Amino acid sequence: MKQWIKRKGCLFLAAILLLFLGGCGADKAPSAVLPAEEPLTIWLASDLHYLSPKLTDNGIRFQNRMLASDGKLTEHSAEIVERFLQLAAEQKPDALILSGDLTYDGEKQSLRELAKLLKKVQDAGVSVLVIPGNHDIAYPFARKYSGESSELVDNIPQEDFIKLCGAFGYRSALSSDEASFSYLYPLAEDFSVLMLDANSESASGLIQDETMQWAEKQLELAQQQGQTVISVTHQNVLAKNEGAYSDFILDNAQQVEELLQKYGVKTNFSGHSHIFHRTQSKELTDVVAGSLTASPLQYYIVEVDEKREVSYHTGQVDVFREEAAQRFADCTRLRALEMLYELDLDAQIQEKMADFAAQMNQAYYAGEHLEAEDWMSREGWTLWQQYGKNTKWKNYFEKMLQEQ
Ligand SMILES: [Fe+2]
Repeated sequence: MKQWIKRKGCLFLAAILLLFLGGCGADKAPSAVLPAEEPLTIWLASDLHYLSPKLTDNGIRFQNRMLASDGKLTEHSAEIVERFLQLAAEQKPDALILSGDLTYDGEKQSLRELAKLLKKVQDAGVSVLVIPGNHDIAYPFARKYSGESSELVDNIPQEDFIKLCGAFGYRSALSSDEASFSYLYPLAEDFSVLMLDANSESASGLIQDETMQWAEKQLELAQQQGQTVISVTHQNVLAKNEGAYSDFILDNAQQVEELLQKYGVKTNFSGHSHIFHRTQSKELTDVVAGSLTASPLQYYIVEVDEKREVSYHTGQVDVFREEAAQRFADCTRLRALEMLYELDLDAQIQEKMADFAAQMNQAYYAGEHLEAEDWMSREGWTLWQQYGKNTKWKNYFEKMLQEQ
């Protein structure tokens, strides 16, 4: 930890020197803090998993990787992200927040390109705020894909993440944590964003003790000043349910929840699970964004009114929508069929059951409300009840409906 603080200190000195020399184009002051009670609009996207087009030829190795994954359209991630950022630069929300997993698998080349695109949004007058996700810093699987093979490429050591992304919130914040990429960023005189990083090189998945102490100090000061604070994490603070999704919470989620509850933070935004949903505990709601580059290519548009009440709806990127939907369906169908082949069913029945799985899974991941009556009246549901009684998929469908 001390080493990192030391490294960071050196970087600050270097940044100051560069500024004097006029050589640090990416380090730009944020937009002016807005007056109290002025309504705010924030765009929030998560899990961009941007992959530089230079790192894939979309050959067989990469295509297989795509089909074995969770349905992102990664070969077009650059175009989807570019379009999203172009929309942000045109429509100029007060802030654009990215809650981690900026890169596909932590390739330095991907982050370099993304930082250039983010700078354009910042230059358009939008405050751009980022934190890393678990795929971004020192990720050991950063690869370049070519034909039937892949090879390791440079990943992103912590100091390089600060170098490439420090200008997006961290360096221009009201207060920045010494032990992580966490910071408190004032958007208005009475409204701030607490960006909490749990993905530093030394402690991935955890908000470290030093960071917890720093965050408490910020929340205490904000409370004294009558500020409203929203927080942002990559991993979830609240578990979606007791099952598999509890894997997506912070290692010290309960401690973080207690801290946020103590200081009256009502809304946390997070990502990581790639599923749009929200979970509430007492006064706190964890609003989770899925992956921007998976169908339906969604992001949140957050409105903060003059009383600092927070509401949100989704926006969608308007390129590659059909391709993204097809990719998501293909991935789910493939997984369902792998299991269905073992059941020795008629091929037509298998196809219908796989189609049903794809439709329901897509609606669930997109955060749509699933009407039990509607889904249970479909032929696919009946087939799963009849032929897939003891399968994990049937349990999964029931669980999805129970959660509504
Ligand atoms: Fe992710």
